[in-house]
Amino acid sequence: MTLRSRALLATAALALCLPLGLVASAETEPAPVQTKDVDTPQVVEAPKTAPDAAIERGRYIAVAADCVACHSNPKSGKPFSGGYALETPFGTLLSSNITSDPETGIGRWTEAEFTRALREGLGKDGQHLYPAMPYTSYTKMSDQDVHDLWLYMKTVPPVRNAVVTNQLPFPFNIRALLMGWNLLFFEQKRFQPRADKSAAWNRGAYLSDALAHCGACHTPKNILGGDKSSEAYQGEVLQSWYAPDITPSKTGGIGDWSKDDIVQYLKIGSNRMAVASGPMAEAVTNSTQHLTDADLAAIADYLQTLPPGPATEAPRTAVTGAVMAQGKRVFDAQCKACHASDGTGIRHITPSFPGNTAIQSNEVAGIVRTVLAGGRGAITAENPTGAAMPSFAWNLSDQQIAAALTYIRNSWSNRAPPVTAEAVASTRKTLNLNAVGRAPHPAP
Ligand code: HEC
Ligand code: HEC
Ligand code: HEC
Repeated sequence: MTLRSRALLATAALALCLPLGLVASAETEPAPVQTKDVDTPQVVEAPKTAPDAAIERGRYIAVAADCVACHSNPKSGKPFSGGYALETPFGTLLSSNITSDPETGIGRWTEAEFTRALREGLGKDGQHLYPAMPYTSYTKMSDQDVHDLWLYMKTVPPVRNAVVTNQLPFPFNIRALLMGWNLLFFEQKRFQPRADKSAAWNRGAYLSDALAHCGACHTPKNILGGDKSSEAYQGEVLQSWYAPDITPSKTGGIGDWSKDDIVQYLKIGSNRMAVASGPMAEAVTNSTQHLTDADLAAIADYLQTLPPGPATEAPRTAVTGAVMAQGKRVFDAQCKACHASDGTGIRHITPSFPGNTAIQSNEVAGIVRTVLAGGRGAITAENPTGAAMPSFAWNLSDQQIAAALTYIRNSWSNRAPPVTAEAVASTRKTLNLNAVGRAPHPAP
């Protein structure tokens, strides 16, 4: 074995230990860390500042790149002051204080250091940042955008809040391991516009890939947490959420969505088919709803031209028999009021199930999670209520939940493999919802 390949292997072994998760889903963390729960979606506004054109552009970048959501503790109400917990399979990371406070924020940083953090994933003293901070996307940002963002960040009022970001246990807390990870999965590269595409398409690609880091959640990851770039946007499971395939695949993705459907989803958090919940609701609430209509249309243009993900394999014959009968009983008793007997729900409040690809995906983590833990739609200017779905962990057994979901996935025009009681049990365990000391209701 050559020295180099041995070094690579060692690097890979070390990189294995790295946190892969990019999603804040902190419902299991104890105090004093700020955590979020399903019922209180995080809403933090980037503060407004003096009307200087470059600074105002910088504020728009901060919103599009969703810096504020990750870098703010919603309970403190102090934007950018850090302390927001990001769960990874290896432990918790807290976001840094990036206000202009000289002691605990980035008040003593230079523009060059700030630029390096965004583009190279390095802290003030050159230490490696964890990729939960999406520098793998921000590396594509333009000089102008980084500069305007810096001008805006300098105007953010200082907040004194010392945060120790690295809460990972040994050995994952060793930052030097990230050197290996970067070597394998990180390419420092600015966005390259494509000459054969329209200006709108290029704008959409830039917004999605560089600023809004949609792929951080929607692009499949390899075992070391690096992007499988050849499968961009084809769907990934994050902890117990599923960020679906958003390519134009007709069976697995959003190939049946019109451009307006996409724009509407990103603007108000729902459309005729879907209601954004969980991490997507946060992305809509804090970021995409504030984008201009032209920018949202550009994102839609881009998504609609992505190479489609693989077709999902639906079973040729419908599931029938006892499970479907039990599923219908549970659905009629517990779900029909909000989801309607034909599964089409209530427009902009609950999703429509017939023909909904995310509901029929082979990845059932997301839908199982919603039924167990409940959920809440995005809160937006145009839809300020953000309808909630109750948690059924306490009153339905694993088998009842599995049957209800199997029923939804195989009624109307839908065809998908059944959801097993084991899958529900496993998500129940992950979500730590076992402890509730109430016996399941007798099967309806
Ligand atoms: C998905 C969550 C997330 C988003 C979005 C995000 N960050 Fe971060 N950021 C983090 C985390 C977590 C850390 C701490 C990483 C570490 O300690 O290794 C961090 C660290 C940083 C640091 C280094 C601070 C220090 O003291 O070392 C800077 C600067 C920074 N982020 C700026 C930004 C800016 C500007 C944006 C928007 C363009 C942004 N971040 C978006 C999660 C995020
Ligand atoms: C923090 C993780 C995260 C980020 C960042 C993110 N998404 Fe999502 N997205 C999700 C999850 C999780 C869902 C599933 C939501 C649900 O089940 O209600 C989702 C759902 C969607 C859907 C609906 C798909 C369907 O079939 O119902 C679309 C469209 C979408 N996202 C587009 C985007 C775009 C465009 C971006 C970037 C501007 C983006 N997302 C950024 C996590 C994310
Ligand atoms: C009080 C109204 C209400 C009831 C009762 C209800 N739901 Fe929901 N459901 C919602 C709302 C609102 C949403 C959209 C927000 C969300 O996804 O969290 C939703 C979303 C869903 C989703 C989509 C999740 C996703 O990941 O996109 C599924 C699946 C679902 N419900 C199944 C069920 C089942 C099964 C039952 C009965 C056991 C049920 N619901 C009962 C209101 C309800």
